[in-house]
Amino acid sequence: MKIAAGSDHAGLPLKKKLVGYLEALGHDVEDLGTHSEASVDYPDYGFAVGRLVASGGAERGVVVCGTGVGITIAANKVPGVRAGVATDVFTARLMREHNDANVIGFGARVTAAEFAEAMLDVFLSTPFAGGRHAHRTEKLNQGPPAETPPNPEEPR
Ligand code: RB5
Repeated sequence: MKIAAGSDHAGLPLKKKLVGYLEALGHDVEDLGTHSEASVDYPDYGFAVGRLVASGGAERGVVVCGTGVGITIAANKVPGVRAGVATDVFTARLMREHNDANVIGFGARVTAAEFAEAMLDVFLSTPFAGGRHAHRTEKLNQGPPAETPPNPEEPR
């Protein structure tokens, strides 16, 4: 699978390990930086990964910063990207089954490499469930309407 990867300086150590892990599994990884420990801005790398995924240049993306939050927010600013921070294997599976996530975010300061690898395995191997989830992800793709409708009374 063609996978885009990106991180800021805080995410660099974990990203390097994950890129090596993915390449050892035979994936074609495009590492969009950063490549040094010099301080950089995480939005630049989240946008770069998001753009490559949204354009079809990569099937999935992996973004890493200190917590995973900032770079995942950045990736989500690119239309067509559905990114989430992975904190556990259950979430990594559900972000594929329910959200059809195409980018996964990790926090290098909070997540051990072996744990991130386990979440990545699940993220890459789990298909989108479709069905009732499909019109919801379509709403994500469309973005918010001009006037947001009221919240439904019952959670679904
Ligand atoms: C960098 O210090 C840090 O703010 C960044 O890696 C990330 O955690 C932001 O969300």
